[in-house]
Amino acid sequence: MGRREIFAGNWKMYKTREEAVGLVRGLLEGLKGISREVVIFPPYPYAAEIAAMCRGTVISVGMQNMHFEKEGAFTGEISPPMVKDSGCRYVLIGHSERRHVFGETDDLINKKVRAAFEFGIEPIICVGELLDERENGQTGQVLSRQIKGAFDGISAENASRSVIAYEPVWAIGTGKVATPEIADDAHREVRNLLSDLYGRGLADSTPVLYGGSVKPDNISGLYAKDNIDGVLVGGASLKADSFLEIIKVK
Ligand code: PGA
Repeated sequence: MGRREIFAGNWKMYKTREEAVGLVRGLLEGLKGISREVVIFPPYPYAAEIAAMCRGTVISVGMQNMHFEKEGAFTGEISPPMVKDSGCRYVLIGHSERRHVFGETDDLINKKVRAAFEFGIEPIICVGELLDERENGQTGQVLSRQIKGAFDGISAENASRSVIAYEPVWAIGTGKVATPEIADDAHREVRNLLSDLYGRGLADSTPVLYGGSVKPDNISGLYAKDNIDGVLVGGASLKADSFLEIIKVK
């Protein structure tokens, strides 16, 4: 497919420090001799330690979220320079739990995308429709609003450094994975939207990952699709064995 492929694991609010370090050790051991790009998103307090453990390996580390300001009186938030300083290369922006549990809007997500580029952090921008939006035939509209919103005012040069994760909300943590066909169609739609904004070349070279109940037993069908360039895994990334099985998909 010619595009960069990424296998990402979002740990959400799980793991003690000891468990987190153990999981990273297991992944590093299991990834010996594997050259795929792997990204993990541990909870904030462990990120710096894990980034240090992963330096010089195939694993990059990212934060699950961040604020858009450089610094300020924002109790409980972390800034883009803190993300960088912790050794993180990536940041997840607009994950569905941020949008739907914590009320993040397209406007806020756009500010965070701008901040990521300003501070040299690569954003993995998450988009995806709710179940009733899909059932009402609004998926295209939702993706359009989210993609246009996230990229508002972003230059083509910066946009070319982004990664998109399509994560239908109805598939996240529910065990209901999107069929490879549904995911592939949505990824094509995302690429068409990027093409409208920045042209075909950029759209064709931007990695689009699928997320939502990815497991070792459904990864092959997803990975076989042309428009699916990797995955963003929640639950199945919490155990080395299952995440390694996903990463090693043929
Ligand atoms: P899940 O989560 O794999 O547990 O469905 C995916 C995500 O939220 O990124």
